Amino acid sequence: MYNSRISGLGFFVPDNVVTNDDLSKLMDTSDEWIQERTGIKERRHVIRGKDTTTSMGVKAAKKAIVRAGIDKDDIDFIIFATLSPDYYFPGPGVLVQRDLKIKTVGALDVRNQCSGFVYAISVADQYIKSGMYKNVLVIGSEIHSGGLDFTTRGRGISVIFGDGAGAAVLTREEDLKKGILSTHLHSEGQHAEELSLLAPGMGGRWVTDIIADNDPNDDSYYPIMNGQFVFKNAVVRFSEVIMEGLKKNNLEVKDIDMLIPHQANLRISQFIQNQFGLTDEHVYNNIMSYGNTTAASIPIALTEAWEQGKIKEGDLVVLAAFGSGFTWGSVIIRW
Ligand code: UT7
Repeated sequence: MYNSRISGLGFFVPDNVVTNDDLSKLMDTSDEWIQERTGIKERRHVIRGKDTTTSMGVKAAKKAIVRAGIDKDDIDFIIFATLSPDYYFPGPGVLVQRDLKIKTVGALDVRNQCSGFVYAISVADQYIKSGMYKNVLVIGSEIHSGGLDFTTRGRGISVIFGDGAGAAVLTREEDLKKGILSTHLHSEGQHAEELSLLAPGMGGRWVTDIIADNDPNDDSYYPIMNGQFVFKNAVVRFSEVIMEGLKKNNLEVKDIDMLIPHQANLRISQFIQNQFGLTDEHVYNNIMSYGNTTAASIPIALTEAWEQGKIKEGDLVVLAAFGSGFTWGSVIIRW
C-alpha cells in the first residue's frame, strides 16, 4: 500500500483576454452585473484554430512533467477530464498519448464537468495506492468559448465560462502520512438537467437531427443552467464534502492551510470561507481572471497558489468541487 502525492503542476491559458466590457458589446450585460453576481472581471478565449482542448492540456502537462522531475516515458497512465473534447470520440486522453509521444500506456477520459479533476485525481490516487502505477498524468482542460451563446439569450451562462487547462503528475509516495490522504466523491443524477447540454444527447436529439432541422431558434446545443438552484446546492455540497474529508482524517476546519474550491462563482467561495471562518490567506480564488474553466479550474488555481509560494511542505491542502450531474467531491492532501 502506498500514497500518491502531487509531484508536478502546470497550467496554460490562451493569451486572448476577454473583458466584461467586451461581452457587453455582444449582449445586454454589464461589467457591474457580472462582477457583482460572480466576481469575474475577465476570462480567456482561445483564438479559433490556434488551440484545442487537447493542445492546451498538452502544454499544461509538459510543465507538470518537468516540475515532477520525471521523463514523459516514466508516465504509466493518462487521465483527461473535460466536457469539451476535441472530438465526440475518441476522447482527448489518447490524443495526449500521441502528442506527447508517450509509449502505449492506458488513457482514460473523465466526464464529470466541474468535478472532473477531483474525480480524475481520485482515480489516479487509487491506481497508485494499489501499487499498479507509479506516475499518473492528470489533465483538466476546457474550451467553452466555441460552444456558448454570446447573444442576450445566453447571457446567464456565457459570461461565466472561460477556456484553459491545468495538469498534475501524481507520483508514488511511501510515507503514508504524506500526499493524498483521502478522496470523497458523490453524485445526484436527479438534478442532471439543471446544468446540462442536452444535444447531441443520446436520449434526446442527435446533432444530425439538429442540422437536418436547421431551426435558427433551436438552442438545445447550448448549455443551460438553473443558476439559483445550482448555487443553493453548491454551497451545501461544498461544505458537506469538505467536512466529510476532514472527519475521515480526524482533522478540523482550523487545520486547513489552503482550500482550493472549484472556481464556479466568487460568491460561492466566499460563502464557504465565511461559513468555515477561514481567512483570505487560506482560500485561493482566481475566478476574477479566468472565469469558470470547469475541469481546468482546480488545477489552474492549485498551480497558481503553488507558484506563488502559498502551499508549503506539510500544509493541509483541500480541493473541493461541485457541478453538473450534479457531482461533487473533495481531496484531502498533506503536501
Ligand atoms: O460550475 C458549476 C457550478 N455552477 C455554479 O455553481 C453556478 C451557480 N449559480 C450562479 O453562480 C448564479 O446563479 C449566476 C451567476 C449564474 C446567476 O446569478 P443570480 O444572482 O442567480 O442571477 P439570476 O439568474 O437570478 O438572474 C437575475 C437577473 C435576471 O433578470 P430578471 O429576471 O430579474 O429581470 C436575469 O435575466 O439577471 C439577469 N441576468 C443578467 N443580466 C445581465 C442573467 N444573466 C445576466 C447577465 N447580465 N450576464
